Amino acid sequence: MPERRHLPHLRRPVCQGITAQLSTALVGRYKIEKHIGEGGMATVYLAHDLKHDRKVALKVLRPELAAVIGAERFLNEIKVTANLQHPHILPLHDSGNAENFLFYVMPYIEDDTLRDKLDREKQLGIEEALEITKGIASALDYAHRQGVIHRDIKPANILMHEGQPMIGDFGIALAVSQASDQRLTETGLSIGTPHYMSPEQAMGDQEPNSRSDIYSLGAVLYEMLTGEPPHSGSTAQAIVAKVLTSKPSPVRDTRDTVPMHVDAAIAKALQRMPADRFATASAFADALGNPGFTAATTMVMPAKRLPWSHGRSARWCSRAPELWC
Ligand SMILES: Nc1ncnc2c1ncn2[C@@H]1O[C@H](COP(=O)(O)OP(=O)(O)OP(=O)(O)O)[C@@H](O)[C@H]1O
Ligand SMILES: [Mg+2]
Repeated sequence: MPERRHLPHLRRPVCQGITAQLSTALVGRYKIEKHIGEGGMATVYLAHDLKHDRKVALKVLRPELAAVIGAERFLNEIKVTANLQHPHILPLHDSGNAENFLFYVMPYIEDDTLRDKLDREKQLGIEEALEITKGIASALDYAHRQGVIHRDIKPANILMHEGQPMIGDFGIALAVSQASDQRLTETGLSIGTPHYMSPEQAMGDQEPNSRSDIYSLGAVLYEMLTGEPPHSGSTAQAIVAKVLTSKPSPVRDTRDTVPMHVDAAIAKALQRMPADRFATASAFADALGNPGFTAATTMVMPAKRLPWSHGRSARWCSRAPELWC
């Protein structure tokens, strides 16, 4: 199922005829069996690995994106995934360049992505949501200690296998972000949904770091508990504007059965300033499991009153409209 939170107008139709060319390019190695999904950057096929006689998921970068990134950079970045070994990270079986199709191969996961699960169930049980989050947090903590940032944590990149979350697409977001913005814009491709993007990534003025992934994980947990991501909007620009300027409402406003410490931990993970978030993904997981956790800066604080809502400021405002109004 396509990523529901991809904004439809940002998507491109799948290029017809590619599957036949791809099958020819991979002949003798993989047999393409069927198309199973696609995101903004790639198309995913169920394939048969002829050497090992097993089902695999084969992911092929869209040709226009492959041209921008280049085979060398792509195959270099994909090595990042190859070196990560963790029970909650989807491993890499193979990668390559077959007649200019840049592809990588991973285990085929028959179960849903977290996106599919959320589309079906909307809100998850609190215990289940916390277990999924702790699994992802342990994988992120491990990757961050190796110096690897995911950059695109979102429900569509979390595959559910036997009830356990597996993070996919490590290394891909880095390869894409390293392609220059200008050339990427020329392809007309969407680089994903802004719903889970940290403010610093939305601004694009700062290299994402481990705290950017922690923000995204906080946004995913927020949606698992409330049924909606922290910020919504009908266009990418509207969502980005909210990510940059507004505070999400507390989880307990929507679901008061969520324990207060969980609400406080999510608020801390979603802080606008990276320095105000948890320093590590495992600190976030610890806070979720600690009923005594309270964040010094949470979103349950009442919003500051705007100057024109005060009688004195309102009078001042009427005298100096160019400054306040
Ligand atoms: N290893 C896998 N096994 C089974 N299905 C998979 C696997 N990897 C991806 N898929 C399916 O392919 C779909 C598309 O995945 P893809 O990663 O290309 O898209 P996305 O995550 O929605 O967007 P993005 O391009 O931003 O990553 C997924 O939603 C999922 O249904
Ligand atoms: Mg993906």
